[in-house]
Amino acid sequence: QQQEKQRLVEAHEYTAKLYHYILRNTEPAKPAMDYLRSRGFTDALIEEFGIGYAPARWDTLTNALERKGYAASEMETAGLLSRKQEGEGYVDRFRDRVIFPIHDGNGVPIAFAGRLMTSGQPKYLNSPESPLFSKSRTLYRLNEAKPVIRRTRQAVLFEGYVDVIKAWSAGVHNGVATMGTALTNEHAAVLKRFADEIVLCYDGDDAGQAAAHKSIPLLQGAGFAVRVSVIPNRMDPDEYISANGPAAFVRECIEGAVSTIKFQLIYLRKAHILLEEDGRIRYLREAVKLVARQDSPTERELLLKELSQEFGVSIDTLKQESSEVRQREK
Ligand code: GTP
Ligand code: MN
Ligand code: MN
Ligand code: MN
Ligand code: MN
Repeated sequence: QQQEKQRLVEAHEYTAKLYHYILRNTEPAKPAMDYLRSRGFTDALIEEFGIGYAPARWDTLTNALERKGYAASEMETAGLLSRKQEGEGYVDRFRDRVIFPIHDGNGVPIAFAGRLMTSGQPKYLNSPESPLFSKSRTLYRLNEAKPVIRRTRQAVLFEGYVDVIKAWSAGVHNGVATMGTALTNEHAAVLKRFADEIVLCYDGDDAGQAAAHKSIPLLQGAGFAVRVSVIPNRMDPDEYISANGPAAFVRECIEGAVSTIKFQLIYLRKAHILLEEDGRIRYLREAVKLVARQDSPTERELLLKELSQEFGVSIDTLKQESSEVRQREK
């Protein structure tokens, strides 16, 4: 079994090299290079992240792996090949996609993500679960981010591969991402070995904000201090960096990441229509409930003061409401 895994790892190493070589040196990869350039990928980034290209053919990798002596059925288990839809035999799983190699926490290649260069579905095709690859445990770039996470005791958690890459180029070297799936307790346990604080840097769109809302209790439950980046205009970190530059990203999104209570209040706001008295009252009651759950009296007072000023309700009334919530929930 150990031997089988070793073979699968070697097949991944070989495949990563092949796709990278194809991207860097072949004519059919020109549109892929143009695509990467148009998205701001420099040669240095392409090298650092080992980015590659899987050609628009059915048999490039299939033939290459066969020449290397790998059994096709085993390569299907590894997620590199797929069974033909009809008839016997195998075909390349990744076709006409930009390839991002994925490594485990020790830098061993275990999977790939392939991105379409045009619109279509699925936008990203990941390797399937395999003896090497478990989505619920894997964090993209953990091995490379580990030294900085250890040193700073802080990790930045992104939604997307490209976000991790562009943040890296902006100097954020403690960034990792989940595999486009939800954050799990296993992910949190892995990070807990190196970090005490997580900065959640998810997309600024509704899906990203909802995902952050869900990840906060999971991370707090695992014992992390959590701060949240609030990225304006529904942008994701990559788009923010392209629009505003790396320095603004580090300043506004990473250093400027807000406390979870601030984030929850912002999130709650979006669910209420504050132009109507009804909506304002409901928002205020929910907001006070969130504030009431804060342990620090100073923090509670400051937050209630802000709410009081914004909504023209006396601080005493809000304090009383907050105390009642605390009584009820004791
Ligand atoms: P770009 O469009 O290349 O900038 O990617 P993105 O990271 O901004 O994509 P998006 O915000 O739509 O999704 C975030 C992450 O979810 C991606 O990095 C992927 O890991 C994952 N994801 C997105 N689309 C798909 C998909 O079609 N299939 C799968 N399996 N994962 C996806
Ligand atoms: Mn190279
Ligand atoms: Mn998104
Ligand atoms: Mn995104
Ligand atoms: Mn994006």
